[in-house]
Amino acid sequence: MKKSVFITGAVVNTGFGVAERFAKEGYAVFIGSRKQEGADEAAQKITEKYGVFAKGYKADSTMSEEELKAVFDDMKAEGYLLDCLVLNAANLGIRQEFLTVSVEDFSDVIYTNMIWNFILARQAALHMMEKGKGSIVFVNSNTAYRCIPDRIAYSASKSGALGMMRALAFDLGKYNIRVNAVLPGMIKTDRWENNYNNCRAALSNYTPLGDIATFEDIANAVYYFGSDESRNTTGAELVVDGGNMIQLYPIVPEDK
Ligand SMILES: NC(=O)c1ccc[n+]([C@@H]2O[C@H](COP(=O)([O-])OP(=O)(O)OC[C@H]3O[C@@H](n4cnc5c(N)ncnc54)[C@H](OP(=O)(O)O)[C@@H]3O)[C@@H](O)[C@H]2O)c1
Repeated sequence: MKKSVFITGAVVNTGFGVAERFAKEGYAVFIGSRKQEGADEAAQKITEKYGVFAKGYKADSTMSEEELKAVFDDMKAEGYLLDCLVLNAANLGIRQEFLTVSVEDFSDVIYTNMIWNFILARQAALHMMEKGKGSIVFVNSNTAYRCIPDRIAYSASKSGALGMMRALAFDLGKYNIRVNAVLPGMIKTDRWENNYNNCRAALSNYTPLGDIATFEDIANAVYYFGSDESRNTTGAELVVDGGNMIQLYPIVPEDK
């Protein structure tokens, strides 16, 4: 049976980059999105470019576990038991100021980034147990450890997801299912291209490498955890952030 991967939020940006990385290796690729049409188009692009089987699914955080189970059942009906689940989609919870954010908006971020991922991981694990092996990869963030303004729910959700990653690694090890997390810093998305704030202007002041990640950089790290290349690694974190996490303070050039 051919290898297969399911990636959430894989129509654009990092998720699509991850889909391309697995497709290059010959995996069948399942694309998740909140919109069926977008998922179908992305799947078609993957098939046309890489000649692998690809299929799109509507898979979002408003769906019940039963509805999500139907997605995994359909993959099985297509002849695939998943080798890898990549939990990439995220509610970014931008501009959630602590004193004013509603409990509903805070909860939505926690629900999508943690509870929905918990449900997806459980459904994927059932596939993998039947297969006798598997790998679950969380696309996390270095904001699990270090904070940026007005992102309280996002940071909390990413820290919580790391705890969940370790607990899953522990509980699923006996089924030969590995669970790991990639922690990007900033990624060159379309959002970054339109971001002319201080961090863009002063990039080399706070990352030792003076550059930020491309989709390929993140996809390579995800592929490492997702494939047999890391067959003895579980419960691990790989930070891909140009060294941003280990730099204590910005290096500001002295006035001459
Ligand atoms: N960009 C960065 O600088 C950065 C830095 C650190 C970590 N990360 C992490 O890397 C991953 C990918 O980030 P990105 O910037 O490439 O992606 P992105 O395009 O902003 O988001 C990924 C996808 O998640 C889906 N999504 C958004 N809100 C959702 C919701 N409420 N419920 C379900 N799905 C939702 C969307 O797909 P659909 O519209 O197709 O549903 C979206 O395209 C995320 O986990 C993010 O936290 C990103």
